[in-house]
Amino acid sequence: MEIVHDTAALQARADEARADGKRIALVPTMGALHAGHLALVEAGRALAERVCVSIFVNPTQFNAAADLAAYPRTWEADLAACREAGVDWVFAPEPEGLYPEGFQTWVDVSELSEPLCGATRPGHFRGVATVVSKLLLAAKPHVALFGEKDFQQLAVIRRMSRDLGFGVEIVGVPTVREADGLALSSRNVHLAGEARSQATALVRALDAAEAAVLAGEVRPEALEEIAREEIGKAPLAEIDYAELREPENLRRLRAPLDGLSLLALAVFFPRASGAGETVRLIDNRVLPKPLPQEERT
Ligand code: PAJ
Repeated sequence: MEIVHDTAALQARADEARADGKRIALVPTMGALHAGHLALVEAGRALAERVCVSIFVNPTQFNAAADLAAYPRTWEADLAACREAGVDWVFAPEPEGLYPEGFQTWVDVSELSEPLCGATRPGHFRGVATVVSKLLLAAKPHVALFGEKDFQQLAVIRRMSRDLGFGVEIVGVPTVREADGLALSSRNVHLAGEARSQATALVRALDAAEAAVLAGEVRPEALEEIAREEIGKAPLAEIDYAELREPENLRRLRAPLDGLSLLALAVFFPRASGAGETVRLIDNRVLPKPLPQEERT
């Protein structure tokens, strides 16, 4: 495994691999690697002969300096995990390397970036789309893998890749979860005690809404309410959003539902260290198509 800090050096590796007829997979991360990230690596290895994992805590996608400073960094453990997983290149650029003095060029996927996490975190997806563009240009992959846990991010990147013609296949990988259903996230380290046990409220809300669709509920507001009620049973939870949207374009859905729908959740919990500080968890599920009236139970 090689650790590469410089964009030009990574491009040279990529050119060499391509000249050799090898396929390249890119897995962009911000480090603090867990089994969710490693599922992306494994999926990448199945699709390509060379796997590049980028580890870069991207400053332009954070809204608050404190959030950026508090982001977990576990460099040595990350390298060990990558080695173990059979990664070929770890790309770890310096912030000044990716954002040189005077940087002023941004990639903005306008409509898809507005709702949900975009509403709570203005500018977040502009930072994500810009850094992912730069990573794609650096690693020159045939395929790039992203988690479905960050559903809106995946949608933004798919759109960006199509709109700008990156010529890369964007692959979504299902969410990896703890035994109790909590989606793995680098931010889970900030949860402890009661907050950690109540964090399963998100997956319970997704289950409740899915069960309701299967039982014949076709009103978007009613399904959102079912999710909110379930989260409300966790006294430490504070809802940021619980919304039903079209999976493709993230537009609001009209009643009655007649196809797949995305239930997207974001919920604040108190942070283990720090009075009054919070950690924001997200989760989502594509709910099944409602059954025709006569087939409902
Ligand atoms: P990060 O949060 O480190 O996540 C890196 C990738 O891992 C993303 O594609 C994310 O969706 C995926 N991932 C996270 N938790 C997962 C889980 N439980 N199961 C499956 N996949 C999971 O997302 C980012 O970094 C950044 O925004 C990035 C794309 C790297 C741009 O800076």
